Amino acid sequence: MQRAKITIVGAGNVGATCAHWAAAKELGDIVLVDIIEGMPQGKALDLHEAAPVEGFDVQLTGANDYAATSGSDVVIITSGIPRKPGMSRDQLLETNVKIVADVTAKVARNSPDAVLIVVSNPLDAMVYTAHVVSRFPTQRVVGQAGVLDTARFRAFIADEVGCSVEDVQAMLLGGHGDDMVPLPRYTTVSGIPITQLIPPGKLDEIVTRTRNGGAEIVNLLKTGSAYYAPAAATVAMAESILRDKRRILPCAAYCEKEYDVGGYFVGVPCVLGRNGVEKVIEVELDAREKEMFAASVKHVKELCTVAKKFLPK
Ligand code: LAC
Repeated sequence: MQRAKITIVGAGNVGATCAHWAAAKELGDIVLVDIIEGMPQGKALDLHEAAPVEGFDVQLTGANDYAATSGSDVVIITSGIPRKPGMSRDQLLETNVKIVADVTAKVARNSPDAVLIVVSNPLDAMVYTAHVVSRFPTQRVVGQAGVLDTARFRAFIADEVGCSVEDVQAMLLGGHGDDMVPLPRYTTVSGIPITQLIPPGKLDEIVTRTRNGGAEIVNLLKTGSAYYAPAAATVAMAESILRDKRRILPCAAYCEKEYDVGGYFVGVPCVLGRNGVEKVIEVELDAREKEMFAASVKHVKELCTVAKKFLPK
């Protein structure tokens, strides 16, 4: 059986960590691309040399041009600058639209059938950018945010309950910003509603910490943003796609009639399979959740309007 091919664009912390996890899971042969000469080659070679110890049989290639990426099944886009303490994700917009537009054009030419997983920030506007530039069907363009945000939510819940992280299931909607919408109503521990295990005040604190989860790490690191959890989340999406697992994961997916979004990429529960986003799942929302989701979608739309200005003509 031919192995799947995965391209990871951007060999910084997120990209290299994606390569590490994807290799450990033997998801496929991996091409790591970056503009910095020698860096993707060095990281790919280093990981290749780890393979005998860890026992993964995949090819790892580093490259500065896109010829090596041709015919990829999944392309993960991590390029762009990360934020520094005190910056919002939105402040990265102008720089990262240009970078993501540039790499997407090259990726799309070389891998016209790939599913694109966008990780760069501000996430929702970068997914939009990748879609406009690639002209891929919306099903094959998806953004990573919700898996990371729910992972944070799940980790904090497990800490509070004093239980295994494996038993915590959580759902979350909206953009990858401070107005993301964690859904405690759809959050359970081994099937037990979270509201029966954590008092409301404590749960609110956990929701707030989740919303600020990215900034919490930025403030600690000072020189960049999170990468272990973002990369783990991205590789979980790639795995569901490449192995056609059809996991239901919160992702930035294109919604037209769904949730009345009107044609934007926003965080919603999706079935992820071999074709990308196989389905968007609409869950019932109460009035307050609808209001929070609408605010989040409004923010995503505003960001996309700004992103449009910086897109190549
Ligand atoms: C975060 C950044 C990477 O949430 O968006 O950590």
